[in-house]
Formats: sequence, C-alpha cells, structure tokens
Amino acid sequence: MKQVPGPGFIHQFEKAGQEGENRTLLLLHGTDGNEKDLLALGRHLLPEAALLSPRGQVLERGMPRFFRRLAEGVFDQEDLHRRTHELADFVISAAENYNFDPGQVIAVGYSNGANIAASMLLLRPSVLKAAVLFHPMIPFVPETAPDLSGKRIFIGAGRYDELVPQDQTEGLANLLRGAGAEVQLHWEETGHELNRGEVEAARTWIHSRMSQDD
Ligand code: MLT
Repeated sequence: MKQVPGPGFIHQFEKAGQEGENRTLLLLHGTDGNEKDLLALGRHLLPEAALLSPRGQVLERGMPRFFRRLAEGVFDQEDLHRRTHELADFVISAAENYNFDPGQVIAVGYSNGANIAASMLLLRPSVLKAAVLFHPMIPFVPETAPDLSGKRIFIGAGRYDELVPQDQTEGLANLLRGAGAEVQLHWEETGHELNRGEVEAARTWIHSRMSQDD
C-alpha cells in the first residue's frame, strides 16, 4: 500500500508487464470491496497493462465505497461530485508519481465503482480514454452533456439485476451515446453479480477496440 501526493487514496499499483505498454487500468471496486478485489480481473482483461486500484474513501457501516448514498440507488450528489473530482485528481497525480501515460487510462468498475467511473466520464472526461462498466446506474443527468466523442465504453448488465432496472442501463447507454461515445451494451441473463460471460465479452471488446496505437 502506498500513498501518492494529493488526495490520499489507499491503493495498489502494479506496473505494466511489458516494455512499451502504455495503458493503465483504473480498477474501481463495488460496495464493501477494497483495492485488491479487481486485480485478478484487471490482469485477465489486459494482462500487460499497468493497474491502479484505489480503495473508496467512504465507509458505510464499515463498507468502503467511492461516494455516499442516501438510500439504495439514491446518491448524495454533492458528495458524488466532490469525490469524482478527488478521484480524477488522484489519477492525474498517480500518473506523475508512477510515470504512466495519463492519456491511456481505461476505467474498469463494478457496481459502485462503475457508478463513479460513469460520473468521471460525465464530469472529468479527459481523465479516461475508455471505460468498462459492469452493472452501472445513471449517476446523474448533467445539465450540459460533455463531449465524449472518441471515448469507447463497454457496459455489462444483467436482465434480472435486482439493483439496476433495465431502463437505467439503457438510459445510461443512451446518455453516453448522446454525448458522442461509442457504447457496446452486453446483456446477460443474470442478476447484479459479476459473471464470467460479461467478463469474457469485455475481454474480447477490450482487445478488439483498445489497440495501443489508437
Ligand atoms: C451498490 O450497492 O454498490 C449500489 O448498487 C451501487 C451504488 O450504490 O453505487
């Protein structure tokens, strides 16, 4: 565990496994997770990439999260906005500290982590080149849509997700597409849990859409 200057997120960093590899996966865990949860997933999705995996700084009855919520699916917007900027600033300072390319950061988030990644796309799009969002919701609807042209986004969703109704998933995909992003929406016949089918679909997507010379 190491701290970088700026917002002090406990985090894990693993450098790229290959000379010349310039992509970094920003791994964002779900509620009650930590910085170790998605390391194996990140390695599986893009084995040679560097991994940056912070732990959410909010504790909800002892469970780490990336921002506060008022109830299930009801987000504290003031807190969400502030913490989205803190996370974006952390990524920028981590790029300096660990010497990775800040223009080649791909977020990979699950549930609460996917929600703050979606919030980052809306509030600080320059920090992310692309994103893999597993079971995200609409974090908020911006008054003015950001320019997401050139951003590539994969969304993994479950048709029977007990926390994320289908129209939330479709609404988020439409919001991101409306802002210019290229979005691939992948459905599984499952609930909120992360499952192998969507992980493999994301891996295929990342390898076909995220070549290094983009
Ligand atoms: C969760 O339990 O993490 C929620 O479904 C998503 C969130 O609160 O951000």
